[in-house]
Amino acid sequence: MGRLEHACLSFRSWLAVTAAAFLLGVRPSACSDLTGSRPNILLLMADDLGIADIGCYGNATIRTPNIDRLAARGIRLTQHIAAASVCTPSRAAFLTGRYPIRSGMVSSNGYRVLQWTAASGGFPTNETTFAKILQDKGYATGLIGKWHLGLNCESSDDHCHHPLHHGFDHFYGMPFSLMGDCAQWDMSEKRAGLERKLNLCFHIVAFAALTLTAGKLTRLLSISWTPVIGSTMVAILLLTTSYFVSPLIVHADCFLMRNHSITEQPMHFQRTTSRFLKEVSSFVRRNKQRPFLLFVSFLHVHTPLVTTEKFLGASLHGLYGDNVEEMDWMVGRVLDSLDTEGLTNRTLVYFTSDHGGSLESQLGNKQYGGWNGIYRGGKGMGGWEGGIRVPGIVRWPGVLPAGRVIQEPTSLMDVFPTVVQLAGGQVPQDRVMDGHSLLPLLQEADEHSAHDFLFHYCGKYLHAARWHDKHSGRLWKVHYMTPQFHPEGAGACYGRGVCPCSGDGVTQHSPPLLFDLSKDPSEARPLSPGTEPLYQAVIATVGEAVRNHRKTLSPVPQQFSLSNILWKPWLQPCCGTFPFCSCSQDGDHSET
Ligand SMILES: *[C@@H]1O[C@H](CO)[C@@H](O)[C@H](O)[C@H]1NC(C)=O
Ligand SMILES: *[C@@H]1O[C@H](CO)[C@@H](O)[C@H](O)[C@H]1NC(C)=O
Ligand SMILES: *[C@@H]1O[C@H](CO)[C@@H](O)[C@H](O)[C@H]1NC(C)=O
Ligand SMILES: *[C@@H]1O[C@H](CO)[C@@H](O)[C@H](O)[C@H]1NC(C)=O
Repeated sequence: MGRLEHACLSFRSWLAVTAAAFLLGVRPSACSDLTGSRPNILLLMADDLGIADIGCYGNATIRTPNIDRLAARGIRLTQHIAAASVCTPSRAAFLTGRYPIRSGMVSSNGYRVLQWTAASGGFPTNETTFAKILQDKGYATGLIGKWHLGLNCESSDDHCHHPLHHGFDHFYGMPFSLMGDCAQWDMSEKRAGLERKLNLCFHIVAFAALTLTAGKLTRLLSISWTPVIGSTMVAILLLTTSYFVSPLIVHADCFLMRNHSITEQPMHFQRTTSRFLKEVSSFVRRNKQRPFLLFVSFLHVHTPLVTTEKFLGASLHGLYGDNVEEMDWMVGRVLDSLDTEGLTNRTLVYFTSDHGGSLESQLGNKQYGGWNGIYRGGKGMGGWEGGIRVPGIVRWPGVLPAGRVIQEPTSLMDVFPTVVQLAGGQVPQDRVMDGHSLLPLLQEADEHSAHDFLFHYCGKYLHAARWHDKHSGRLWKVHYMTPQFHPEGAGACYGRGVCPCSGDGVTQHSPPLLFDLSKDPSEARPLSPGTEPLYQAVIATVGEAVRNHRKTLSPVPQQFSLSNILWKPWLQPCCGTFPFCSCSQDGDHSET
């Protein structure tokens, strides 16, 4: 804040701000100190959306008029970086303002997101979200949509990782994540693998059972009937389980909750979109008299791309495009809720995606994942730009300038200190924070972002780092490891779901790969000491920054360790009778 005040006093920035305000025709408000101004905060996050999937980021053929309008009336960040290239860790970093490695939401074992609702891993109870701070500051806090940060620790209803234990006082949505398996898509996240394993086990046990039976009947083996009957029963159990894997997953993970109660298990996808919108408008209406924080975490545009009839076939880009256009329409409806209550000028709106589009999401020759434009790579790739560079839009009419574009490096982790500052709260002082308030940049008080370096992790492994050299304006990116594509040179890990972070599937670069993103944003031309005189100096500077960063890390419990990631039947939330777990309450308590 000291920096902000200082900058506000500087004549140079006053002049710049006044000139910009004059040119843009807005009130010169940029120098007002917004600390503690307590606007409403509306955060919109898409799931798996690529940066080039929307009009205002250069897509000419997809229709996203609502998001484009948001950008036209607000500020568009062009170098907005997610702290991880997959859901769970990126969302953990967003909510804590810290790299996910600090909260233990990473692993070295290949599991990079939570795999089951009934796993014991999840958002540690001692992490502080910005929602918690805003709640303490008197904000009404709501989360509508996807969580995917865990649920229970020890029993099926302790809800230790639940949003209501992390600063939200209202939750309606999926504690887990939408996935292909929820709709029994061919593109399966875990069903296909489980079925394969169960079938293999079945064949082994069935073979053993037959051998034992034959041996017993022909009296070649002198054994009792117990192993014969036992192995036959295990074989039958395995066969039945593999037969029911699909409905089991649908019941175990694809359900909706309102606060602490399950309302739909399994959920009815076709109703979800309208339910969410209704929830949003009633939350806004209920809380219009007080400042609120509402985090709308879309299930769009994750596979299986559940799209209502109105949008099916509407876009030029197949089912994926239809789903993007429907999400844009939802954004419009959410913004309408603000307008209806006359809250638009009192609300800071933010839009982003948790990470880049997935290149591997394809069936046959149909692409079901997002488009990352000129950026190399995609979802799951910790270092390549396509996995981590996402849209970032901020609008606050009359307070922040309209139609501006900021190219400075910013991070999703910056939202934490930004909203805490606006609410008049204090960021936690007892831990390392990685985000920086965006206000000086947004208000044009600072020309440069506070991020000199950003670190790009893949699980627990540091794959790359960027350095924005403010003096020369050059943007360097150093890659220490990159995933090996499959097939080689394909640009993605086709057939593998997602690229690995470590082991045989990655290439270690020694010396590291260096790119100058200011000239080569597509990371197409690696530099060498021969072509780039600054090569050694840049590698040394970034190496030093990495060492300093590593000194600030301390060991924490791993939330994705094997024991934390396994499905545990006793943690399975279930409404109705176990194992049927089925209910469908209308659950429309929101009007009361
Ligand atoms: C627009 O988005 C669609 C859907 O992701 C994509 O297929 C297309 O290539 C994009 N077009 C441009 C120009 O980025
Ligand atoms: C959720 O619980 C909070 C209290 O913790 C309550 O204010 C809110 O109304 C509840 N929401 C619903 C939809 O029941
Ligand atoms: C909201 O702010 C805009 C931009 O400053 C202004 O044109 C508009 O009149 C304001 N609306 C209300 C209702 O105050
Ligand atoms: C949370 O608790 C773990 C130990 O259980 C500890 O390692 C970690 O530093 C704590 N985090 C914070 C932010 O206090």
